[in-house]
Amino acid sequence: MLSSVQTIHIPDEDIGTIEVVITPKFLESHLKNIRIGIIFIIAALALVLILVLYLLLWHIVLKPLKQLEHFALQVSKGEVNISYSLKTPFIGELENLRTSISAMIVLLESRYGMLQQEIKHTRESENLFRILNHSIPDLVWFKDPNGIYLSCNPKFEKLFGAKECDILGKTDYDFTDRKLADLYRESDLKAISENESVVHEVNVTFESDSHLSVLETVKVPVHGVEGNLIGVLGISRDITEKKRVENELEKHRNNLELLVRERTIELASANEKLTSAFEALLNEREKLQTALDELQAIQKQLIHSEKMASVGLLSAGIAHEINNPLNFIKGGILGIEDYFESNLKDHIDEVELFITSINTGIKRASEIVSSLSHYSRQDDLNHQECDIHSIIDNCLIMLQNQMRGKVEVTKKYTEKRCLVAGSEGKLHQAFLNIISNAEQAIENTGTIEINSEVNQNMVVLTITDSGYGISPDNIPKIFDPFFTTKIVGKGTGLGLSITYNIIQEHNGSISYLSNQGSGTIVTINLPISKADKL
Ligand SMILES: Nc1ncnc2c1ncn2[C@@H]1O[C@H](COP(=O)(O)OP(=O)(O)OP(=O)(O)O)[C@@H](O)[C@H]1O
Ligand SMILES: [Mg+2]
Repeated sequence: MLSSVQTIHIPDEDIGTIEVVITPKFLESHLKNIRIGIIFIIAALALVLILVLYLLLWHIVLKPLKQLEHFALQVSKGEVNISYSLKTPFIGELENLRTSISAMIVLLESRYGMLQQEIKHTRESENLFRILNHSIPDLVWFKDPNGIYLSCNPKFEKLFGAKECDILGKTDYDFTDRKLADLYRESDLKAISENESVVHEVNVTFESDSHLSVLETVKVPVHGVEGNLIGVLGISRDITEKKRVENELEKHRNNLELLVRERTIELASANEKLTSAFEALLNEREKLQTALDELQAIQKQLIHSEKMASVGLLSAGIAHEINNPLNFIKGGILGIEDYFESNLKDHIDEVELFITSINTGIKRASEIVSSLSHYSRQDDLNHQECDIHSIIDNCLIMLQNQMRGKVEVTKKYTEKRCLVAGSEGKLHQAFLNIISNAEQAIENTGTIEINSEVNQNMVVLTITDSGYGISPDNIPKIFDPFFTTKIVGKGTGLGLSITYNIIQEHNGSISYLSNQGSGTIVTINLPISKADKL
């Protein structure tokens, strides 16, 4: 119990005391009420304060912040063309924030425009890529280095019979049997390790419609901008038709080869038959050629004999005809000489000059007769000792009429006697033709030089003329029968052909060296007969 004694004062006098006694219960109950009242008052005050503060906060901060939030939300939705002003009596930090946000909006606006452009371009590129990707007739896909599909085109979808969205993130092992998937993986790794494209062919079944195809696949390692490997690009082309055509071609080629082989065998046997027929023909031809050669030789012989016979007959006739009067003249001059010796000895000196010149004429006429008889001698005796110099002299005598005043003849004979075993008539004919050709080659005036010398067992004769010469084209033809450059009636073209044969018959040789326009040198080699070997 609480008791309080309080003195009661009257001014300047104490009148007594009052004692107030309060029981603890009463005190407790009043204290409790007072406490509750205080708490209630404090709570009410706090609530009012909070309310006031909240209102202030709402008006000054939260409301502008809400506006800003709403503004930011609109911006975030892409509505950048909005103007905004803060309805707050406190401009300070929030106004700064508003200004910054406005500046940011302007920036965002321009960035947004650029972004829109970029998005437009990207969409266009994407569309183009999609169109191209859909249009590519080949199978195209892209895998990461671990073989996980990152992209593929519709054509490729048909291979696995699945949509791109179901293929991406998976590997070959999810769609094909292990053996084929191993093969695909192997080629991916090969392209990666060799860092270059690899090509392979593979037979596949398209899951979309179960058709079989042959695919030619190229795999290319793909690197990012920084050069790091980002995956493997694969392109497969359906070469089924190409393969079919190739196989067809191969088949045809094989057939052709077979045909060619068969034809070659047939041709070879035909060729063999032809070759043997050709050989038989060649043999026949050779026989014919020999027969022709023989015929030509006989023909030449005949022409030669005929020519010799007619010339011989003529010259024999002339020789006979001249010989008779010559004999008369010889007899007459002998008689005249005897007469002067016996009756007019004193006058013999006066006529001696005439007698000598008549005898010279008789001698020359006898020589001509003798050379005519040389030419006409029909001997086949190849064992006569023929004096080459005398044969040439005889030829010159026969030709002296044509050569007089036109050709100056020089003779440079070896001092040794040159006897050749053979036919005098034939050799005479040969030299007559050679010298006559030389004379005919000289058009106005010119020279013929005849040289002889002995070299070992041979007599070497050179007959050099200053005539028009022989063209290089004609040199190889001059010994051919009937080759002539002379006008019809002037030459038969047989002279050198016969001459060549005659020299050959006498084991000699004849060659022509000529410069067109500056003359010809004929060289004849003949073996000297044993009897007169030097
Ligand atoms: N000394 C030479 N100079 C220039 N040409 C020559 C000479 N000797 C031969 N020939 C050429 O060779 C050709 C053949 O000569 P060959 O003696 O065989 O026949 P030919 O003289 O024409 O006629 P044939 O002698 O039968 O009367 C001559 O036509 C001539 O063209
Ligand atoms: Mg001739």
